[in-house]
Formats: sequence, C-alpha cells, structure tokens
Amino acid sequence: MIEEIRAAQADALVRLAAVSTPIELSDVIAETIGKKGVLAAFRNRLGGLVSVDERKAVGAVVNEAIAAAQAAADARRTEFATAVRTAQLAAERIDLTEVIARPTRGHSHIVTQAWERLEDVFTGLGFQVAEGPEVETDFYNFEALNMPPSHPARSMHDTFFVDYGTPGSTVLRTHTSPVQIRVMQHWPPPIYAIMPGRVFRNETPDATHLPVFHQIEGLVIDRHITLADLAGTIEAFTKAFFGEGFSSRLRPSFFPFTEPSAEFDIRRPDGTWIELGGSGMVHPNVLRAGGLDPEEWSGFAFGFGIDRMAKERHGVDDIRVMYSDDLRFVEQF
Ligand code: PHE
Repeated sequence: MIEEIRAAQADALVRLAAVSTPIELSDVIAETIGKKGVLAAFRNRLGGLVSVDERKAVGAVVNEAIAAAQAAADARRTEFATAVRTAQLAAERIDLTEVIARPTRGHSHIVTQAWERLEDVFTGLGFQVAEGPEVETDFYNFEALNMPPSHPARSMHDTFFVDYGTPGSTVLRTHTSPVQIRVMQHWPPPIYAIMPGRVFRNETPDATHLPVFHQIEGLVIDRHITLADLAGTIEAFTKAFFGEGFSSRLRPSFFPFTEPSAEFDIRRPDGTWIELGGSGMVHPNVLRAGGLDPEEWSGFAFGFGIDRMAKERHGVDDIRVMYSDDLRFVEQF
C-alpha cells in the first residue's frame, strides 16, 4: 500500500505541476487532496489494516503525501495570483509622458489677465498682495468699516446672506474692504498692501453689473500719510497701468470707512473719462477696529472693479459676455 501511496503522490505532483489555469488547479486539488480525492481515499483504507503499528506507519505516509501535494498546490496558487497581479499592473499602467493627442493650449481669461497685471503694477510700486475670505462676518464686511447695524450705507450693498449662525451674521462679502481690517489686525504697520478678490452683490445682471465680480483694494498705513499721498499713488498707478498719456483726478464723495472720501476717474488721451473707483483717508474708527491707534497711524485706501478694467481695456460693451461660454468671444484675447 505504501508503494501505491508513493505512486499516487508522485502522480499528484506531476499533475499539479502541469496545470496551467487556476480552474484546472482546483480540479486537480479536488481529485487528489480533496475529500473524494485519490490521496484522501487511502485514509479510508487505513481501517482495513490489522496491526496498529502498520496503521500508524501507513497513516504517516498518507499524511506526508497529502502535505507534499498541498504544498505544491499552494505554490501553484501563489504563482497564479502573482501572474494575475502582474498582468493587472501592466494593463493599468499610465504613461505620463504619452501624448494622446496634440495638446491645445488655452490662455488666461481677460479678467485674470487684468488681475495679474494689476498685481504686477502694484507690486512694482512696492505693495504686497493679501487675500481674505469670500464668506465674511457682518463685523468685517460692515461693522468694522464704520457701518454699525442699521447704518443707511448698508442699503447700498445688496447683500447675499449665508444661512449660518445668527440670521444676518454671515454674508458673501460685498466688497474687498473687509480685507483691510484683516490685514491691519495681522500685519504690523507700516502697511502697503493690495487685496484683489471676488465680491458678491444681490443685483440683477445687466450690461454693467453682475452679481459676482472682482475688486482690488489698496491700503496704505504709515506715519504722516496725507491725501497728497493718495492722489500721488493713484496718479503713479494710472501712468504705470494705462500709459503716460493717461491721468487721474479725485472727486469728493462719501464712504463710511474713509474721511475725507473721493471717487477717482482716469482721463483718456482723448479727454474722455473712465470712472474707476472709491478712495479716501482711512477713518479713525476703522483704524481702531483694525487694532491701530489713530493718533500714531494714518493711511488711505482705495478700491475698484477688476472686471471694469478688463471691459474698458478690450472695449467690451456688455460685461455679461465676458462670462459667457462662447469660445468665439474668449479666444479673441
Ligand atoms: N469698498 C468700496 C466699494 O465697494 C470702495 C472703496 C474702497 C472706497 C476703499 C473707499 C476706500 O464701493
């Protein structure tokens, strides 16, 4: 019987070595080591042996045979699993250098172009760039800017409210001026900063207004800053951004956060004017909200629309088309 077992073991090992798929492997396992397999069948025949010693000896040979076949089967199973994994890796490999089609290269949107040029011009004049959050608290958007609750100037800002916290306490910022307060709170003066970003007003879109647009804020805080510094800075910016043939003027106006306040216009070489934005000397209450002592520090601020600049520069007559998905428009610039 031992001879028979050894022969069956050898046969099983040959068959296991010969299988070429996981399915064939399972079949051969069932037919050899499995419950109804050839090797397992010897176990049932042990009972027929009369002597205990013989039963033990033959039993050990059966166990050996099954263990050897099992080890061979396990080795084959691992081999198949590795092959599957290797094939999968090869199939899923991504060649990052592969060129699938000739790439088409886009370019920045005209508003992005204007934004970047404004940053270039102002950093050239010595300003640093800061950014603040688009979702603001009432405090930063209004109160710290000298617009306490129920201040009439709030009604000029058609505000989008965010459903968060106490009703009315969270807004989509209506201008970039709240970033002035954040900069004052975080940067020790002197401060020469510009703050570009997206702003929101609950307005019906028309040729000159959109509910989402962009502004750039300027803030200078130093000792002995006067209105002359504001006028000089606007003039230097005008020449650097628009060209030598352009000039600027300030017109008296009102903003709660500046005193005195002025709107500023740019004069084209042909003598016509572009109304650009608001400006003024930072109000003492605003300096205080920013954590600065108005006896020690003074400054000016200004703010204007970036979309408006892009519109002017490219002679776009309806601001809405700048955000349309019409590639014929976008690809012109
Ligand atoms: N925040 C003002 C606006 O949105 C513009 C402004 C900025 C005016 C800074 C004065 C100083 O209209």
